Amino acid sequence: MIRAVRGTRDLLPPETETWNFVEARARELFRVYNFQEIRTPILEDLQLFQRSVGEETDIVSKEMFAWEDRARAQSEKGQWLALRPENTAGVVRAYIEHKLWERPGLQRFYYIGPQFRRERPQKGRYRQFYQIGAEVIGPSAAGSESPVVDAELLEMLASLLDGLGIKGWTLELNSVGCANDRPIFLEALRNALKDVVGKICVDCQRRYETNPLRVLDCKVPEDQPIIEGLPKQSDYLDESCRTHFVEVQKVLTALGVPFVLNNRLVRGLDYYTRTAFEFTHGALGAQNAIIGGGRYDGLSESLGGPAAPGIGFAIGEDRLVMALQESGAVPVSVTDIYIAPLGAGMNIHAAVLARELRKQGIVITVGDETFRLKKSLETASKTGARYALILGENEVVSGQFALKNLATGEQVSVVRKEIFSNISSAARDPYSAEER
Ligand code: HAM
Repeated sequence: MIRAVRGTRDLLPPETETWNFVEARARELFRVYNFQEIRTPILEDLQLFQRSVGEETDIVSKEMFAWEDRARAQSEKGQWLALRPENTAGVVRAYIEHKLWERPGLQRFYYIGPQFRRERPQKGRYRQFYQIGAEVIGPSAAGSESPVVDAELLEMLASLLDGLGIKGWTLELNSVGCANDRPIFLEALRNALKDVVGKICVDCQRRYETNPLRVLDCKVPEDQPIIEGLPKQSDYLDESCRTHFVEVQKVLTALGVPFVLNNRLVRGLDYYTRTAFEFTHGALGAQNAIIGGGRYDGLSESLGGPAAPGIGFAIGEDRLVMALQESGAVPVSVTDIYIAPLGAGMNIHAAVLARELRKQGIVITVGDETFRLKKSLETASKTGARYALILGENEVVSGQFALKNLATGEQVSVVRKEIFSNISSAARDPYSAEER
């Protein structure tokens, strides 16, 4: 048997209902915050990720699905391609390629789609996973550096999680500084690490050489006392980064968005500057980051574009769905009416009635042609239908239909025109807020 590739999986109904529900909610939220959808290719030039996410990061150095594509001519070399491990780089590439800075004001984009990282699969971690992300980008003159932009983005995320009924999330916030103060902090960190490098875990010894910032992210219990004693980014922020960070916090407080400061929060991608954040959720186990994001004020320039400060986030949709399942608030789709045609001649009548009712938005399943009342009612119950409608010759002739409420067993006789009003008084829209 051929199975799905390690770290990838099929999303099956009814779980796909929850995915669609989450995406519909996110799209609705993006609409009111004036974000528009962008779709970039899943395949990109490998260099894009090397120059943005960073060659020394785990994502690029260890986790990319990348290969040399076939050359167009024998004399040429093939181009190195990669399946995107994240979407920010692709969005900024598109921003530069299509000169989107020529459009007025700030650009607000969102995306929903698969990303690929060759990580060790475990609960909440896949090699093909899905992100719902957004980016705000534009020239400084359009206000792209404003701390209000950061706070608004975070407030939007808090609204999404709250609106979905997800309880127990924590927003962890940090400022990772900028090109001005980063070298000074890195030097202080390297100096401090020099004395203790022999005592920290092997991974951290490697990080000490390649990317000392990542040492701060170490989870090994024995390393914690050492890491606690290392210099803190917050003590090295330059004046403008410090003021920016304070402003972000002030606006968040005014908006009523709770957060905790975590000065050891370093993100696994190199492009970040200033505000960096993660939303974590207790019920998710080791992979508890449900959302990650931050500012990337120099990214456009490092990819050959104009100065275009930006900030964004990506929600791990797989993890968001898990959190929603934990909270028990998942939508279910049900058949409203199961139409049971009793007799071969009834098939056409059933099809016509089904068409009429579906046009009114009622979910219909047409029966299985067994033409036996008892069997039909059993099937209707098994499939979870709310009502069964018996359709025999008598019904067609008289125009009166027997409508049976399968939960209560109550049966009423209704005329064709009244079917809709009869069931819609109790109609349920699985996506409506009242239902949740
Ligand atoms: P990230 O922190 O690498 O950031 O990923 C964001 C979220 O994607 C994580 O918090 C997690 O929920 C989910 N995620 C990451 N890897 C996996 C995986 N292997 N399996 C399941 N879920 C995963 C970014 O990707 C940035 N592009 C976010 C961003 C946008 N920053 C600025 N703009």
